[in-house]
Amino acid sequence: MPERAEPRVAVLGLGRMGAPIAAAFLDAGYRTTVWNRTPEKAAPLVERGAVRAATAAEAVASGPLVVAPLLDTGAVRRALGPAAAGLRGRTLVNLANGTPEQARELASWAAGHGADHLDGAMMALPETVATDEGFFLYSGSSEAFARHRRALEVMAPAHYFGADPGAAEVHDLALLGTGYAALTGFLHAAAVLAPAGTSPEEFAPLAARWLRGMAGFLPELAREAGSASYGGGVSTVDLNRAAVDGLIRLSGAAGVAADVHGPLKALLDRRSADGHGQDSFSSVFELLRAGGAAGR
Ligand SMILES: NC(=O)c1ccc[n+]([C@@H]2O[C@H](COP(=O)([O-])OP(=O)(O)OC[C@H]3O[C@@H](n4cnc5c(N)ncnc54)[C@H](OP(=O)(O)O)[C@@H]3O)[C@@H](O)[C@H]2O)c1
Repeated sequence: MPERAEPRVAVLGLGRMGAPIAAAFLDAGYRTTVWNRTPEKAAPLVERGAVRAATAAEAVASGPLVVAPLLDTGAVRRALGPAAAGLRGRTLVNLANGTPEQARELASWAAGHGADHLDGAMMALPETVATDEGFFLYSGSSEAFARHRRALEVMAPAHYFGADPGAAEVHDLALLGTGYAALTGFLHAAAVLAPAGTSPEEFAPLAARWLRGMAGFLPELAREAGSASYGGGVSTVDLNRAAVDGLIRLSGAAGVAADVHGPLKALLDRRSADGHGQDSFSSVFELLRAGGAAGR
């Protein structure tokens, strides 16, 4: 049997995310060519067996897959500009955060140079690259995703969201939005608890335990919102309206801003006024997708 060729990858950008990504490819047995604007950052990886490229063009020439965990899409364009001629037939994986529109523009720039493009969003921290905790989102060329999936999974479990290059960034923002709501809720609660003498550090383990339980509630919420059927739930609009009202009153008494939960209260009030007080809490989805409590 012929020996399998050693898999190759080029990593452009050896910052906080790029360095562990290059290290993960080395650990997985890839011939890993690295390039960084500030060349000194490549030294620890070269010591571990990486091949140093003097220019981005040299890195691009090293193999079929070019992974770019650079600062932003502007940096990707600046780094790859002088290397553009070498991109033909390569797959460019942009891992820099950006807007969906920037991802689409980069995809069309790459296509103009004969390259396949995948846009990636890294739901990970430097220390969770190549662990079970991190995961990456991708969109763009489905052929490129299928062809390079094994390599992509070296960095993190890979989720693909379709051919629109902007889709990974849209899902990235959706996940960030989910997290921001929970984390801002925690910070608000910590402020409310301060006058009662409970510190944020004391409250954090309890909040984490509660959030783990809340996460288990997501499939039910998703089923109700996905099928637009809100009857028979145990946690109704009116029940949660009273709870959120209590929270807002408590905020006022503690001298804490009610900005976090005011919009939710407005949604619940609107649902109740529309005769949906006995529907499940998840039915606020109907107002959100119609533009909000004041919408329609
Ligand atoms: N850090 C995190 O926890 C985290 C988590 C998820 C996603 N992200 C996203 O991952 C991307 C990389 O983040 P990071 O934390 O690794 O950033 P970082 O540590 O600041 O590294 C940025 C990288 O981009 C390079 N760079 C910046 N401007 C450049 C330019 N004009 N031309 C060429 N290279 C340029 C830097 O090169 P030099 O070394 O020469 O400066 C460095 O390699 C960002 O889009 C970030 O939002 C980060």
